[in-house]
Amino acid sequence: DASALARAESLIGSIPDYPQPGIVFRDITPLLADAAALRTTIDALIEPFEGRFDVVAGIEARGFLLAGAAAIAAGKGLVPIRKAGKLPRPAATVSYALEYGTAEIEMHDDLPAGTRVLLLDDVLATGGTLEAGRELVARLGAEVVGTAVLLEIDALGGREVLGGDVHAVFHV
Ligand code: PRP
Ligand code: MG
Repeated sequence: DASALARAESLIGSIPDYPQPGIVFRDITPLLADAAALRTTIDALIEPFEGRFDVVAGIEARGFLLAGAAAIAAGKGLVPIRKAGKLPRPAATVSYALEYGTAEIEMHDDLPAGTRVLLLDDVLATGGTLEAGRELVARLGAEVVGTAVLLEIDALGGREVLGGDVHAVFHV
């Protein structure tokens, strides 16, 4: 309910000047460490998409913190989207821009075409990471039914970059 969610939100910390001066790091680890807050948050994360997806796909690394719990809560499977070079079998790769340079993420290429995927990550900032995830899933012929994050940083406009059905449990 709303008060349980408000309590969970209050457990997200803000760490100034980490990892660099001028950046405020949003620290979800106190929320994750609290059993009731974790349960409430995971339920709210998947609720809008309930019954409409076959697997959750979480993006390494912090997306993994949510994806396992969300998959179990929804009774669905989990597909990892990994940073490049970590998957043992043939995989699709997508590059995306970081503040400095580029990064690559990968997904095993045997996801059946038409699989309905709920894409998960902890934070939506510029949207670059999740957009790369969407492109990966699309490249495999699967369908992103929606994108869900714990926290959206509204001022960075990631939602416009992503398009589609974007759900954020909390906003800053
Ligand atoms: C962080 C965060 C999101 C992404 C959001 O990941 O976990 O995945 O940035 O930013 P964006 O919307 O601007 O792409 P990061 O790659 O920093 O590290 P992680 O491996 O700890 O998840
Ligand atoms: Mg991340």
